[in-house]
Amino acid sequence: MAHFRTLDNLEQEIGDVRGKVALVRVDLNLPMADGEATDLTRVRAVAPTILELADAGAKVLLLAHFGRPKGQRHSTMSTSVVQGDVEKVLGREVMYISEVSGPVVEQSLGIIQDGGIGLLENTRFWPGEEANDATFAQGIAANGDFYVNDAFSAAHRAHASTEGLAHLLPAFAGRAMQAELEALDKALGSPQQPVAAVVGGAKVSTKLDVLENLSGKVQHLIIGGGMANTFLAARGVDVGKSLCEHDLAAKVSTIMDAADAAGCTVHLPYDVVVAREFAANPPSLRTCNVHEVSADEMILDVGPQATEALADVLKTCRTLVWNGPLGAFETPPFDAATIALARTAAALTEEGSLISVAGGGDTVAALAHAGVTQDFSYVSTAGGAFLEWMEGKELPGVAALSR
Ligand code: 3PG
Ligand code: MG
Repeated sequence: MAHFRTLDNLEQEIGDVRGKVALVRVDLNLPMADGEATDLTRVRAVAPTILELADAGAKVLLLAHFGRPKGQRHSTMSTSVVQGDVEKVLGREVMYISEVSGPVVEQSLGIIQDGGIGLLENTRFWPGEEANDATFAQGIAANGDFYVNDAFSAAHRAHASTEGLAHLLPAFAGRAMQAELEALDKALGSPQQPVAAVVGGAKVSTKLDVLENLSGKVQHLIIGGGMANTFLAARGVDVGKSLCEHDLAAKVSTIMDAADAAGCTVHLPYDVVVAREFAANPPSLRTCNVHEVSADEMILDVGPQATEALADVLKTCRTLVWNGPLGAFETPPFDAATIALARTAAALTEEGSLISVAGGGDTVAALAHAGVTQDFSYVSTAGGAFLEWMEGKELPGVAALSR
């Protein structure tokens, strides 16, 4: 794993942080409904870093983006919208500051006591953020003594607050970033083998790079969701009216050949759950062999026999990385395979025979639905950043912290 400094190196690099200003990049891009945050997981994730710095006497200035305002102020995307949520999770007062640089920030720092916390405005209100503009970043850096990045989920963006600042100030990974990087390293960086990857979800086209990268790194590649239909069709299976990207047949064959050459077994379902209509518990529901799907049926989940076989595969593995559900899990009973395999993974993790790492928006929801979020070794709340990591890409926000 690339070496990076953490809060453990603060004292050695900075000395006593009391009274010093910590610019802390967090991800407060919370899911919203009717102007209210519906899930505070991301705030809880960064709380330890904020409190550790505040308790050491630093003045903590939080930097975050919120939505995609494209370089302009929008009141609905002001960080003031989530100020109360941050205060609630931290159990401390947080001062909202309507700018990210300049005299307003300076004056606020005169008011904030040692150990106090300020929340700067949405960095994306300024075009310099996404442009990673040096002058914009210097304006922010001018008010800080050091920089902490605790936003892994935004680390795939090379923006001023996620990348640029790390070059202007002494830079450290926060506790959440540190935990994330350590977990990801255990999963794909230097994992215990054999390694299994579950890759599910609707479309192969969004995960081609993931599949290419994983086929060279893992011993078992388990394909689920609509993606499995595309793989089956590429092998000549008639998938009826299933969701399927028929035009990707050649690409999928290349991936399967590459996997084969690398000693990676690609697992596709051999029994499937099908229905003529996509609805909860439809009357046409049945389970059949993949070769028996009729023209008016669609595949909506991996079948019970294949799920059982996949559980046996996991029992032979030491490491699992999971992205994407196996079936249309939001609609019962097409959640059965995802739930069953997730519970097997959870049980093996509890026994100590498997290190299980999962990530991605749908995946987090699917594991929560299966009730196993707490039982996996690590569940990443990052969406795009987790995928780019699975693609084997270097994340700019992480690279800037490394040395
Ligand atoms: C996210 O919500 O996934 C991150 O905060 C990144 O947001 P973005 O996709 O708007 O860059
Ligand atoms: Mg920042």
